[in-house]
Amino acid sequence: MQQSRTKINFLLKKAPVGTSVFVKGWVRTKRGNKNVTFIALNDGSTLHNLQVVADPGQIAEDILRKVNTGTCLAVRGTLLASQGSRQTVELQAETVDILGEADPEKYPLQPKKHSFEFLREIAHLRPRTTTFGVIYRLRHAMTFAIHQYFHHKGFFCVHTPIITGSDAEGAGEMFRVTTLDPTRPPLDETGNIDYRKDFFGKETNLTVSGQLEAELAALALSEVYTFGPTFRAENSNTSRHLAEFWMIEPEMAFYDLEDNMNLAEDFLKYLVQYALDHCQEELEFLNERALEEEKDKKKEERSEMTLLERLHFVVENQFARITYTEAIDILKNSKPNKKKKFQFLIENWGADLQSEHERYLVEKHFQKPVILYNYPKNIKAFYMRQNDDDTVAAMDVLFPGIGEIIGGSQREERLDKLQSRIREIGIAEEDVWWYLETRKFGTAPHSGFGLGFERLMLFVTGMSNIRDVIPFPRTPQNAEF
Ligand code: 4AD
Ligand code: MG
Repeated sequence: MQQSRTKINFLLKKAPVGTSVFVKGWVRTKRGNKNVTFIALNDGSTLHNLQVVADPGQIAEDILRKVNTGTCLAVRGTLLASQGSRQTVELQAETVDILGEADPEKYPLQPKKHSFEFLREIAHLRPRTTTFGVIYRLRHAMTFAIHQYFHHKGFFCVHTPIITGSDAEGAGEMFRVTTLDPTRPPLDETGNIDYRKDFFGKETNLTVSGQLEAELAALALSEVYTFGPTFRAENSNTSRHLAEFWMIEPEMAFYDLEDNMNLAEDFLKYLVQYALDHCQEELEFLNERALEEEKDKKKEERSEMTLLERLHFVVENQFARITYTEAIDILKNSKPNKKKKFQFLIENWGADLQSEHERYLVEKHFQKPVILYNYPKNIKAFYMRQNDDDTVAAMDVLFPGIGEIIGGSQREERLDKLQSRIREIGIAEEDVWWYLETRKFGTAPHSGFGLGFERLMLFVTGMSNIRDVIPFPRTPQNAEF
């Protein structure tokens, strides 16, 4: 039987010196001289490399010649205490097998710093860099923490559909799903495309949110959440927007807006604390990386806190909570508004807040996360619970460096109010008949929110572009990998 492979993570932490081990991984660097070769091997189980020591007396010259950055190897040998200062153990190679060669003339990843722009062009290989290994592992840790948080609270995970027949949410432009022949679509009596002949017998799209279906489940199971991909065809080429992103949407019966805000704050703090507790090495690596990057920035553009300081700060401080109306007052009287520095000046109550305004509130005015609530009903979705004035019980959580990280609300549970609102907005009742029925039969006060997973990852990793915290970003003009 073949000796089983040991993961480098385990080996560096737990394997005693003197044991015989078998490892597999990809070469990060090779250096040395004619007497000895040092190979830094990485198998993705940790950001650390294992130093493999190969003596020419033991490993044939023609094998060592094939060992280059990117080569995949299987190495058998003995673990020794390391002579070098950078690692505690190293592997004295007894056999080296080449599993996959990498031509050094052609392999795009070299043992030097590559720009993130370049790495996006080789997203099929960038998981092999230290930074992206760190990001992939952190995404896993955060995914696990999200399920653990809700599981411990007694929430149930529900899988909401990805293909949807309703466009009621209005959260953004949608991607159509169809099997009709684009060159010869069937037409109806009026000359329009006849979607009755399409696969589902109606027009369908990729969902922008699992909320409406999560509500149906919450009105039966009390506390649920979805965690799935969502799609928005907005043509917004920013460092905060993706056309395909993952969203966590809890939905809770019997929660009012305040309960909803409490859950959102507790949830975010739990996730950040989880990263601090379980991903220390990854965060320290990213912290150092960010400090290096800061050196290239102008003084006024540098952040006041390091990544680790920001993470601790969020966990240790209460979020500010203010109404939209209070926020407008602050913004109206703010320096950048008076000096016309905002791209969109705040003049009247009712204005939609742009990310420059959100970031001013968080980064300059309060200098901590802010929950804004009770927004004008005209800038929010139809399902939000109407207050006695012109506002709805909406809430957005705003984070430093990010802007909006969570959007949510108490839901309108009163049938008559909901019906009059959808009429006002121009949504056809027959399009949301099933949603309305939950208000006809056993309706209940309820609330929920959506956390953008990649926005969370931006905050936790300190990365500056959302394309670099998802393995294969989908953005306008970009769906290569
Ligand atoms: O504020 P949004 O549009 O809210 C909803 O979709 C609700 N149905 C959520 C709910 O109440 N269940 O989106 C929620 C969050 C935003 O706060 C943001 O973090 C993220 O999703 N988000 C995006 N992330 C990446 N790329 C985009 N294009 C995003 N649009 C929204
Ligand atoms: Mg929103």
